[in-house]
Amino acid sequence: MMARRSSQKFGYEIRKLERHDHLIWLRLWSAYLRFYDETLPDATSQRTWERLVDEMRPGITGLVAEQADGCIVGFTHFLAQRHTWHVKKVVYLQDLYVERSSRGRGVGGALINAVFREAADIGAPHVYWLTKSDNHSARKLYDRMGEITDFVRYQTVQG
Ligand SMILES: CC(C)(COP(=O)(O)OP(=O)(O)OC[C@H]1O[C@@H](n2cnc3c(N)ncnc32)[C@H](O)[C@@H]1OP(=O)(O)O)[C@@H](O)C(=O)NCCC(=O)NCCS
Repeated sequence: MMARRSSQKFGYEIRKLERHDHLIWLRLWSAYLRFYDETLPDATSQRTWERLVDEMRPGITGLVAEQADGCIVGFTHFLAQRHTWHVKKVVYLQDLYVERSSRGRGVGGALINAVFREAADIGAPHVYWLTKSDNHSARKLYDRMGEITDFVRYQTVQG
């Protein structure tokens, strides 16, 4: 169980996503999808939520940033994967979102740092993440948090 990590200065803490966060998670998740101009079927978002809070089959982990007044202002999701180049699992930090009015206070950086600590705690110190090349505000933050690689991403959808 993760210890709650606080930022006294800015009055928020990073903690695991919990079942009672469903409504606020859905609001922030919807805003995140809008940011990406992405529309997912409601059933897909519902399945993602169930995976995030399924304690019997842990797979995807969610962390949230909670202010002292109880408001959740950001989230991140990550998963540990087996990897052919590493004996230990590697962590894929898949989603990160901070609501607009709370940006620039270190919440995004604190969420990423919390993923780094969680990854270290589960013995998977290698963490990677992707972003769009034109997401300049995220990349400014990422340039400080990690090392840019020269891999490009290809994909296809079969069937
Ligand atoms: C990218 C995103 C998560 C960053 O969240 P954030 O909470 O604003 O991130 P941080 O506050 O940690 O860092 C961002 C800025 O705040 C500044 N900052 C960080 N800690 C700070 C602190 N303690 N005091 C003052 N400013 C601080 C940083 O210097 C940074 O500014 P700069 O990059 O302009 O120099 C947020 O902008 C977002 O949700 N964007 C839309 C979705 C998105 O792009 N997600 C990522 C997809 S890959």
